[in-house]
Amino acid sequence: MCGIFAVIGSREVSPLLVDGLRKMEYRGYDSAGLATIQNSNKDHSRNLIIRKSKGKLINLSNLLKKDPIQGHVGIGHTRWATHGKPNEINAHPHIDFTGEIAVVQNGIIENYRDLSHSLLLKGIEFTSQTDTEVIPHLIALEIEKSLNNDCSPNGETLLISVQKVLSLLEGTYALAVIWSKAPDALVVARRQAPLVLGFGEGEFFCASDTPALSGFTRTFLPLENNEVALLTPLGIELYDQSGQRQHRAPSLLKGTEFFGDKKNFRHFMLKEIYEQPETAQLWIERYLPIDLQSDTSIAFPVSKSILNKIDQIQILACGTSRHAAMVGAYLLEQFAGVPTKVYFASEFRYSPPPLSSNTLTIGVSQSGETADTLAALRMEKERRNATNDINFCFHQLGITNRIDSSIGRELDNIIDIGSGIEIGVAATKTFLGQMLSFYGLTLLFASHTKKRNKKEILDLSNDLRLVPRQLTDLIKKHDSLSKELAHLFVDTKDVIFLGRGINYPIALEGALKLKEISYIHAQGYPAGELKHGPIALLDQHVPVVSIAVPGVVYEKVLSNSQEAKARDARLIGIAPYGKESEIFDELFSIPKVSEWVSPLLTVIPLQLFSYHIAAHKGLDVDQPRNLAKSVTVE
Ligand code: AGP
Repeated sequence: MCGIFAVIGSREVSPLLVDGLRKMEYRGYDSAGLATIQNSNKDHSRNLIIRKSKGKLINLSNLLKKDPIQGHVGIGHTRWATHGKPNEINAHPHIDFTGEIAVVQNGIIENYRDLSHSLLLKGIEFTSQTDTEVIPHLIALEIEKSLNNDCSPNGETLLISVQKVLSLLEGTYALAVIWSKAPDALVVARRQAPLVLGFGEGEFFCASDTPALSGFTRTFLPLENNEVALLTPLGIELYDQSGQRQHRAPSLLKGTEFFGDKKNFRHFMLKEIYEQPETAQLWIERYLPIDLQSDTSIAFPVSKSILNKIDQIQILACGTSRHAAMVGAYLLEQFAGVPTKVYFASEFRYSPPPLSSNTLTIGVSQSGETADTLAALRMEKERRNATNDINFCFHQLGITNRIDSSIGRELDNIIDIGSGIEIGVAATKTFLGQMLSFYGLTLLFASHTKKRNKKEILDLSNDLRLVPRQLTDLIKKHDSLSKELAHLFVDTKDVIFLGRGINYPIALEGALKLKEISYIHAQGYPAGELKHGPIALLDQHVPVVSIAVPGVVYEKVLSNSQEAKARDARLIGIAPYGKESEIFDELFSIPKVSEWVSPLLTVIPLQLFSYHIAAHKGLDVDQPRNLAKSVTVE
C-alpha cells in the first residue's frame, strides 16, 4: 500500500528518495512521485519541484534521469489508489494553491468532501480527485494567517500550521510536508497509519516502514498515534497531540536483511516458497527445541496466568492470515478442546458478537499493520475495558512476522513467527509461520486443559519436527511438476478448490493464491458443499483441485471428488499416492502424515501451482495488480 519516504540533511535527496521508495515497492503501488526544495541559481530563490509518474518506480527514475532535480530536503511517495484513478495527476505529492507547499499522505481523510467544499467556497480550485489535496490547501491558509500575524516563514510556522490542520482531519493518515519558504524543515505526523523516524549522521528520515531505512540508518523511532515531528538538519523535535514536547529514546533495528536479493530465483515468491523448510526449522529450534523441560509443551512467551483465565478464543484477521487462523481454530477446538471462533477483522469491527467472558482475543497479521485487524483489536480492547468487569477484561495475543509493527507494539503478548521479511505480495512462508504458531498454541492449550495426554502431545510435537524435511522434499518434487502442468491451465477461467475439516482453509488459501497472482477466478469450498450449488458450474472447462488426506473425512472428500469427475471436471488431487489416488487426472502426491499436520504440507503444491501458472502467463507475480502487501486503509 502507499509508502512514504522523506529525508532532510546535507546530501542531494532525490536519489535517496528513490532508493527509500524502492525498498517499499513490495508493499504494492500504482504511481510514484517526489518533491524537493531547489535553490534557483539565478535569484537564489527556493522553489518547490515535483516529479510524478504513473506505474512502476522505474518510470519515475527514468523521468529523473531526463529531468533531474536538486535539494537537501524532499518527500517521496508510492501511491495505491483509493480516491481517484491511478494516474499522474492523482499521484502524490500534492501541492497547495500557492505552489509552495507539498504533501504526501497515506490513509483516508474521511471528511475530505466537507473540507473541499469549504475550500471551494473560498475560491480554491482542485487539480486532483484525491482526498489528500485538501491538506496542502488547508496548511497554506493556516500559514497565511500566521504570516499576517507577523510570524516568520520558518519551520516553526510550518509545524504550527500543520498541527492546526491535523485537528480538522477525520480518518487515518500518515503524512509528510515541506514548504519552499522553510527549506530547513520537514514536518511529519500520523494517526493510525504507520510512520517511523530514522536518525542518520547529519540527516534524518521518515518512512512508512522500517525496511525503507535499511542502508541509511539502523536507529529508528516509531511515531506514536497523533504525534507530530519537526525534522531539521540538526535533529528531530517530537510533539504529542496537545503540542507537548516528547522525549523518547530511539531503538536499533535488528538484522541486516538485504531486501532486494532474489538469490537467482526468478521471483521473490518462488524464493519465499523455497525458504519454507528453513522457516519451519527456525521456528522449531526456537519454540519446540528437543530439550524442552518436561512440563513445558512449547517455549512461547505467553504467560501461564493468561491460560488459567481462558474459556474461549476469538481470532481477528484478514486474507491469508485468516486462513491460518482457521487452521488454528480447528486445532484449538478439535485437538485442545478450546472453543474458538475466527472473524473477518473488517466485519468484526462493525458487527461484533456479544461480549463473552474469559476470552482470549488473537490478532493475526504478517505485516502487523493491516488497518482492519488493528481497528478491530483496538475496538475490542475499548469495549472490554469499558465494562469494568474482570470477567470481560481484554486478554490479548498477536501473531505477526513484524514485531516492530503497530500490532507488535500495541499488544502485550506477541508470538514472533520469525519468517524473515516477505517481499512477494502473495503470502507464502508467513502463512506457514502463522500456522506453526497455532500448532504451538494448540500444544500449549492441550497440555493446559489436559484434553490430550502426554503421548498425544508428544506425537504432535514429533510430527511437527519432521515437517522441515518433508517440506524440502515436497518443494523439490512439485516445483517441476507444477511447472509442467502450468501450461495446461493458462487459459482456464475458473477453478474450484475442495477440502474438508482441517484442510478446508487450505482450499480457501489455494483459491486465494490463484486469484491473487494469476487473475484466474477461483473459489474454495468445503467439499461437502459442492452438491449444494457450486456443482452447477462444473464441466470440462472448470478444473477441480481436491485435497484428500487420510483421516476423519478422507473417504468423504474422495466421494465429493468423484461427484466432480462425473461432471467431466478435470480432477487434480493433493493426496498420498495409492489406489485411491487413481481417480485424479493429475496428482500432487504428499507423504502419508497425520491429518493434524497435513495443512503444513498440502499448501505447498497449491502455492507452486499458482506461482507457475502466473509466471507462465508472464504476470507480475511479486506485485500483482491492485494488491498491496500492507493494507493500511480500511
Ligand atoms: C495474502 O497473500 C494477501 N496478500 C492478503 O490476503 C493478506 O493476507 C491480508 O491482506 C492480510 O495481511 P496481513 O497478514 O499483513 O494482516
